[in-house]
Amino acid sequence: MTASIAISAVRKSYVSRGREILALDRVDLDIAEGEFVAFVGPSGCGKSTLMNMIAGILSTEEGRITHEGKPVNGINRNVGYMTQQDAVLPWRTVAENVALPLRFHGMGAAARAARVTEMLAAVGLEGFGRSFPAELSGGMRKRVALAQLLAYEPRTLLMDEPFGALDAQLKLVMQEQLLAIWRARRQTVVFVTHDLAEAVTLAQRVVVFSGRPGRIKQIETVALPEERDVFRVRFLPEFEVAYTRLWEALAPEIQRGAAA
Ligand SMILES: Nc1ncnc2c1ncn2[C@@H]1O[C@H](COP(=O)(O)OP(=O)(O)O)[C@@H](O)[C@H]1O
Ligand SMILES: [Mg+2]
Repeated sequence: MTASIAISAVRKSYVSRGREILALDRVDLDIAEGEFVAFVGPSGCGKSTLMNMIAGILSTEEGRITHEGKPVNGINRNVGYMTQQDAVLPWRTVAENVALPLRFHGMGAAARAARVTEMLAAVGLEGFGRSFPAELSGGMRKRVALAQLLAYEPRTLLMDEPFGALDAQLKLVMQEQLLAIWRARRQTVVFVTHDLAEAVTLAQRVVVFSGRPGRIKQIETVALPEERDVFRVRFLPEFEVAYTRLWEALAPEIQRGAAA
């Protein structure tokens, strides 16, 4: 098993108003190439901080992170990163938005146009290239962000609560789309969510973080097949087993956070 992302002994603290906040401590985790891993944990446990460090936007304070065998040192251009606030620009058309990362990667206009068409088809938005984001529904805008994320075909996708703002049904549609894309392309996926059902529905492994300082509390392998029916998987016994075990690990952390 080749590690795509290797996180070892990572620690990160922030200084805020003269006070040090230890956000993450002693985090060790290997994520295999092509693996789909979900991160869950109470709000403020450092999930976004860890994603930012894998993306190279933040540096580690102690420990190290390697991606595809190389230490992450500065912006990591070999990952696609979808943050909590999607980066769709309202004054650009859908096609221009999807093409943006390709321009940064220096791809020529003809190749860009072909790739944009392909990516819009992959997310079910064929024919919407000339629309502006404001003309689309919330779910369609998420698809634009997804197409943008996939456009330069990163082998690793970092997704931080990407579907958090969507209603429950639309979320399922997006989950199904994402799993179909993952099965076809086999990227390594790190997916942060506060929705435990979403984590179990999508991931092969779910990592539970404890409340501040964030540490890995539990890792659960989900015994569901890769070929999953997102709309019905919750009724399978394997789902229930994983969900229950994870909830037992997660619930005290949420309660502790609420009391603090
Ligand atoms: N730029 C920052 N300055 C100071 N504190 C921060 C900063 N970013 C995050 N934190 C703190 O670090 C902790 C972890 O934050 P974050 O990684 O956003 O958690 P999560 O994504 O799990 O909700 C929180 O307590 C948060 O307040
Ligand atoms: Mg966050």
